[in-house]
Amino acid sequence: MKHLPRKIGITSLTLLLVGISAVALAAQAPNLAGLKELVIKRGFTKEALSCIECHAKKIPGTVESWKTSNMSHAGVSCYDCHVVEKSSPMASQCEGLKGTKTYISPMVSSKTCSRCHPQEVEQFLKSGHAALASKAVMDITKIGGKLVKLQFDYEGAGFMDKTKFTWTKGTPEGATGYNRAPRASGCQMCHGTTVELGPDNKPINETWPGGVGTRYPDGSVGTCTVCHTRHKFSIADARKPEACGACHLGPDHPNIEIYFESKHGQQYLSHGDDWRFDSAPDTWEPGDYTAPTCATCHMSGIGELETTHSVNDRLKWDLMHKKSVIRSGERGDGEKGDKLMRKVCANCHGPTHTQVQRTTLDNSVELYNKYWAGAVKMKGELEKKGLLKKDAWRDGFQELMYYLWHHTGRRARQGAAMNAPDYAHWHGFFQVFQVYQDMEAIYNYRLKHNKIEELSTVMSTGPY
Ligand code: HEC
Ligand code: HEC
Ligand code: HEC
Ligand code: HEC
Ligand code: HEC
Ligand code: HEC
Ligand code: HEC
Ligand code: HEC
Repeated sequence: MKHLPRKIGITSLTLLLVGISAVALAAQAPNLAGLKELVIKRGFTKEALSCIECHAKKIPGTVESWKTSNMSHAGVSCYDCHVVEKSSPMASQCEGLKGTKTYISPMVSSKTCSRCHPQEVEQFLKSGHAALASKAVMDITKIGGKLVKLQFDYEGAGFMDKTKFTWTKGTPEGATGYNRAPRASGCQMCHGTTVELGPDNKPINETWPGGVGTRYPDGSVGTCTVCHTRHKFSIADARKPEACGACHLGPDHPNIEIYFESKHGQQYLSHGDDWRFDSAPDTWEPGDYTAPTCATCHMSGIGELETTHSVNDRLKWDLMHKKSVIRSGERGDGEKGDKLMRKVCANCHGPTHTQVQRTTLDNSVELYNKYWAGAVKMKGELEKKGLLKKDAWRDGFQELMYYLWHHTGRRARQGAAMNAPDYAHWHGFFQVFQVYQDMEAIYNYRLKHNKIEELSTVMSTGPY
């Protein structure tokens, strides 16, 4: 047990105070014999200590990172997060607990954290990072809906083996392991899905671990550790752009690439090593850093703004869907978001500078929406004339239309929003225009010849 952490919880705070007065006393009376009688009450119960002690030998890496966390210093241990009621749908026993009355779960949702961090969890749950994130890949309103089909019928062996799946639940019946690979290795690791349980209350069908919006068998939603990586649960980690870059990257939402290309990201890359990332919650301010990270703009307290775990709070536009609209309802309050985001910039920029950026964003959204409206019009006409294939993934026009909004169009909008000229232009509007032109050519061909061209999808090799 030589690796057991020193405990600095409430008990040691008391000790410290006793220590200080003892030092003061010592100045008057040098006899310290009485102090030896002090009983040092450790912060952990016997049960809690047993988890730590045994796991320091089994799965030691976990204990090693936990012991450097602020929560371990405060006396929060394995027991507080992993022990569940016997009646919990997730209850099981590990090897070390067999025969005892203690039940645990390897699954830990935001509900567990809400016992001690209710405000963070409340904000998180109303953001896009919670239920909306997993809904996006589950099609929960439709059995075997479009996106779930993409994961099985197209990317999975439904395509390669020509298997027809029967859909009664989220996972198609008869889907063998490799059919589930695209979902388990991809979508789900970022978005999360519903955890399915076997008879021993352990996850099955590779539905766990998962991404930010994971839905747990007890009805709770959300995995806090996507940013506060376990078992260190660090606030400093979460403030760094890499914490977000795990999911916010790639051709369809290159946020980390956009960031590193922006002046802000250049500052982070040049000077980040000298920035302070461990200031107490809500006290992390300019001075600790010279340029914002993702967290600064979207989450952290700065100036008169308080920290929020709702990443939707400071957003005006919806920049991820086919048509950009001002946010409302479950997506947030766009008018209010605009005001809050401007308050972020006001800490380091003057009003003229910020106004230019916001206007450029509004104009970029308007231009993109024009392209999208044109595409919708063309598609409508082709549809009326029966000149669209039923399977969109085998139809060049429709495939290009997907890239128009999902890849190039998002890059143009998000590049403009977060100040990355190369993404806004070369990966963005330049390709928006190229893709649109190709769509027009296909559209004209189909109208002129009243038929769908052969090998149409060969034309759309996915402009990256
Ligand atoms: C502050 C809460 C918290 C504490 C304290 C904590 N854990 Fe965890 N643990 C989590 C969370 C959250 C997860 C991720 C669960 C999920 O994704 O559903 C997790 C996952 C795990 C897993 C499963 C993942 C894997 O890599 O196998 C193990 C095992 C585990 N913890 C062991 C421990 C041990 C041992 C301790 C004590 C040294 C501990 N935990 C302390 C919250 C905690
Ligand atoms: C005497 C040793 C011992 C004790 C005490 C012990 N464990 Fe374990 N634990 C293990 C071993 C060994 C494993 C891996 C094999 C298994 O899951 O049975 C494990 C696995 C786990 C897992 C991962 C389970 C999974 O399905 O991947 C969690 C979570 C866990 N223990 C939590 C706890 C908690 C919380 C306590 C204290 C209440 C505790 N353990 C007490 C030995 C112990
Ligand atoms: C039993 C109470 C308890 C539970 C359960 C709990 N925490 Fe904590 N947490 C604390 C205490 C106490 C602190 C230290 C004081 C503080 O920073 O607020 C803390 C601090 C933190 C911090 C700040 C760490 C830093 O670097 O300063 C984070 C992040 C955090 N907890 C996340 C979580 C997450 C995520 C969960 C659920 C997986 C969780 N906590 C569950 C009590 C708890
Ligand atoms: C585990 C993956 C993951 C991590 C890590 C992550 N996000 Fe997200 N984020 C997502 C997903 C998935 C969505 C889409 C949610 C939806 O479907 O609405 C999203 C959405 C967002 C949105 C748009 C909100 C909305 O849904 O309308 C913002 C802003 C955002 N994230 C910021 C961040 C920031 C800042 C960080 C880091 C501090 C971060 N994210 C870390 C997965 C992640
Ligand atoms: C690398 C992580 C990652 C993977 C893998 C991933 N996504 Fe996403 N997804 C995100 C992020 C981040 C967003 C938010 C994008 C934004 O704000 O522009 C998002 C947005 C979405 C949205 C729009 C949000 C909404 O609520 O309507 C849908 C739908 C979606 N993803 C579906 C999928 C599907 C289906 C898969 C797998 C076939 C998948 N994603 C794979 C990270 C990922
Ligand atoms: C998208 C990334 C992300 C997710 C997901 C996330 N956090 Fe945080 N969290 C942060 C950032 C960034 C900070 C630092 C805010 C600041 O600068 O003050 C933070 C700070 C905290 C703190 C310190 C106190 C505070 O409010 O500033 C606690 C506690 C905490 N988070 C708990 C949680 C819990 C519980 C969850 C799950 C509901 C969670 N976090 C999910 C990014 C995240
Ligand atoms: C300088 C501040 C700033 C920084 C730094 C920043 N963002 Fe943004 N972000 C914005 C602004 C402004 C918008 C557009 C907001 C609006 O609609 O008004 C935005 C939009 C987004 C969106 C689009 C939401 C949607 O509608 O689809 C996501 C996702 C996002 N940011 C994630 C990130 C991530 C991840 C990082 C770091 C890698 C990051 N941001 C860095 C300011 C910033
Ligand atoms: C913590 C301070 C800080 C915050 C907050 C901040 N910025 Fe910056 N920003 C900088 C620094 C430093 C530079 C680099 C200045 C230079 O290029 O000499 C910069 C540069 C820029 C540039 C590059 C153009 C130029 O040369 O000025 C743009 C655009 C920009 N910021 C927009 C924004 C917007 C929009 C926001 C709010 C959403 C914002 N910034 C928030 C510090 C900040």
